Amino acid sequence: MRLCILASGSGSNFEAIQTAILEEELSAEIVCVISDKMDAYVHKRAHKHEIPTYFINFKEHPTRAAAEHSMSLIIDTYNPDYIVCAGYMKILGNDFVNKYSGKILNIHPSKLPKYKGLNALQQALDNNEKEIGVSVHYVDESLDGGRILKQVVFPIYEDESLSEIESKLHQHEHKLYVEVLKNIREIKNEKGIN
Ligand code: GRF
Repeated sequence: MRLCILASGSGSNFEAIQTAILEEELSAEIVCVISDKMDAYVHKRAHKHEIPTYFINFKEHPTRAAAEHSMSLIIDTYNPDYIVCAGYMKILGNDFVNKYSGKILNIHPSKLPKYKGLNALQQALDNNEKEIGVSVHYVDESLDGGRILKQVVFPIYEDESLSEIESKLHQHEHKLYVEVLKNIREIKNEKGIN
């Protein structure tokens, strides 16, 4: 299974997937990493693993669609099975999403359909949730609204600090993304997705 990672930030989800590959827990190859941020830490992580990285400068393109077209030219040279958004912080446009329909996955730090969009954890905390979640879903033209492949829900406790909650959430994310990629055929079959 060939994976192209889209990421804007630290890339801990990228690293978790790559670790699972190296440990032969996941039979896959990350063929490239593409970022909309030149200085994203994910570039460094990918270089360590000798995985090619690309920076798409959206400001140098007249429109988001044009930037995403540049992105798709790179993606197509690698012919990935899945485009894995791992902390990719831009909304993908319709042309891009339609072109790769059924191939784009995202991880979102909430129990979707609750708390879509930015600052999902903070939204949940502001709402006094005692239970939060992480979801892996297909990307469609809606914001964090594509079909959910799998989610985990876990409790948060009053004495936990924000950084403890964040770290717990990231651990769940890392496990869940690997699990979904590992079992994607079965998950799709169960859900009747082609
Ligand atoms: C994750 O929490 C993910 O859910 C959100 O952005 C964060 C990315 O973290 N969409 P990282 O760059 O993988 O460390």
